[in-house]
Amino acid sequence: MARIAVFGAGGSIGHRVVSEALDRGHEVTAVVRDPAKITRSHPHLAVERGDVLDPASVAAVGRGQDVVVSAVGGDDGPGHLALIEPSARSLVAGLHALGAEAPRLIMVGGAGSLRTPDGRQLWDTPGLPTAVVEIMRSHGDALAYLRSVASEVRWTNLSPAARIESGRRTGRYRTALDDLVVDEAGNSVISTEDYATALVDEIERPAHIGRRFTVGY
Ligand SMILES: NC(=O)c1ccc[n+]([C@@H]2O[C@H](COP(=O)([O-])OP(=O)(O)OC[C@H]3O[C@@H](n4cnc5c(N)ncnc54)[C@H](OP(=O)(O)O)[C@@H]3O)[C@@H](O)[C@H]2O)c1
Repeated sequence: MARIAVFGAGGSIGHRVVSEALDRGHEVTAVVRDPAKITRSHPHLAVERGDVLDPASVAAVGRGQDVVVSAVGGDDGPGHLALIEPSARSLVAGLHALGAEAPRLIMVGGAGSLRTPDGRQLWDTPGLPTAVVEIMRSHGDALAYLRSVASEVRWTNLSPAARIESGRRTGRYRTALDDLVVDEAGNSVISTEDYATALVDEIERPAHIGRRFTVGY
């Protein structure tokens, strides 16, 4: 059993991570800006107020946890640019302040920086809307920052496939490091349920500390 705090616990990905972790018997703290938004109750679920952009809040949430997951997102391109890389800095600062007792950090990442089968990065695909590129770049900036502070915190970045959508939990998925996972039909996709499965698998069997990995079918 692990103690896991999840920033963005009310979001599409965050709430699936919370459910997957609870289903496997972990102790989960859902960290949200407005606790009233979490209406579910579970004997192993606590709800706490927190702001991922405030290192003091990160430290307060992280104290006593084994893992802090960040699944935060902004409303649009500019929202992501103002949130994702700054949140990586705040998470690292807040957790680093806890010293040897600091929990692991797992950040939900983005697919944009992954290499496609034709050898470019996904964010260089011609014709992508500016807002999408901004979201992708925000995650690229966060990943670059995490890679620059390798020794300060035990971080992992888990990039979804190019498409992540609510679907079925199959428990089957493939992983890669910096290459987009693409199926035989050329699609890069993962359900939110199986993404959460891969993330909780990584919590239970750490294999990517200090690394980014990605998951798809
Ligand atoms: N293919 C891909 O690469 C891909 C696809 C989808 C998503 N993603 C990434 O995955 C992440 C999560 O996506 P999602 O769809 O689950 O997002 P979402 O449903 O919009 O949820 C985002 C959550 O972040 C929380 N949040 C925002 N700012 C915060 C702050 N300062 N402190 C604490 N919590 C904060 C929000 O809480 P409030 O309720 O308080 O606003 C919200 O619950 C995003 O970064 C997104 O870019 C990547």
